[in-house]
Amino acid sequence: MRVAVFSSKPYDRESLTEANAAFGHALNFFETALTVQTCSLAEEVEAVCVFVNDPIDAHLLRCLAGRGVKVVALRCAGFNNVDLPAARELGIQVVRVPAYSPYAVAEHAVALMLTLNRRTHRAYNRVREGNFALNGLLGFDMHGKTVGIVGTGRIGVALARIMTGFGCKVLAHDLYPNDECKALGVSYVALDELLAQSDIISLHCPLNDKTRHMINPLAIGRMKRGVMLINTGRGALVNTPAVIAGLKSGHVGALAMDVYEQEESLFFEDHSNEIIQDDQLERLLTFHNVLITSHQGFFTREALSAIADTTLANLSQIEKGETCSNAL
Ligand code: NAI
Repeated sequence: MRVAVFSSKPYDRESLTEANAAFGHALNFFETALTVQTCSLAEEVEAVCVFVNDPIDAHLLRCLAGRGVKVVALRCAGFNNVDLPAARELGIQVVRVPAYSPYAVAEHAVALMLTLNRRTHRAYNRVREGNFALNGLLGFDMHGKTVGIVGTGRIGVALARIMTGFGCKVLAHDLYPNDECKALGVSYVALDELLAQSDIISLHCPLNDKTRHMINPLAIGRMKRGVMLINTGRGALVNTPAVIAGLKSGHVGALAMDVYEQEESLFFEDHSNEIIQDDQLERLLTFHNVLITSHQGFFTREALSAIADTTLANLSQIEKGETCSNAL
């Protein structure tokens, strides 16, 4: 199939080109995101391949349909950036990569927890400056602490396995409790109870109308004072001004975000020579107990290779007229 690959970085080109040896699609790579302005690059292609922050709204879908594009292949699991009803109406199939490496994201969540807890981000800089003092680096034993996992799908279960291995008590909240989690000894509780009981809260549910801003002033008020909040799910699960207020009052003791509600215009790119205009993000960066990474939870060799394989297999299935199990 002829495919225009948007938002492609050198690592995407490498993994997709390597995997494509087994599929033989005609891949045309573009570094730019797919927008109404750039969709003219999708010249004589049946499919466009996009990533997590390409805003695939109804207007753009109409432009793509007008150019004869039949498939939008997402190189990611989340699909909150796509107007699915509009795609259906226009007869455009949307496929995704539902699972590639749950371990990648779960392990990144643990890296964020451990860094915030033991302040390795501060220790690294201090020691390099010749400052060997321990003041301000005091952490806590993870063993025996209560970790609340919101959403126990593929990633949430992988995290539950790691946290039970640490000797943590794990609470979970999900619409559909998971048997493997129960077998690990995880207790399913209502969201309010999870918020009230947890020392560390980690978000792993999808972003939708029910979960948008689930971490709001009310939810933060229910949390323990000094709670650690980890968001590797989607930025808009958290109401940013509310969490900034929580950090200022000390109610939120530490925050890590691999995702951010306004990340589209910043993440994945080098803005180090610019003046960043996002005042909320800049305020967050002033807290010593806030750690932000640029949506890199998925970024392991194993995940990139699995993303490439599944994306190309999805396109092959559609090309052969087969039903694609990863269609939305
Ligand atoms: P999944 O679909 O396997 O699991 C999601 C779980 O959330 C399901 O068990 C579902 O029942 C549950 N859920 C849905 N609504 C809920 C609600 N209102 N309250 C509590 N639980 C709810 O998805 P997976 O693979 O575990 O990924 C989870 C999320 O992680 C994705 O939706 C995506 O937004 C994010 N993600 C982030 C990445 C990163 O690089 N930071 C990479 C991959 C995914």
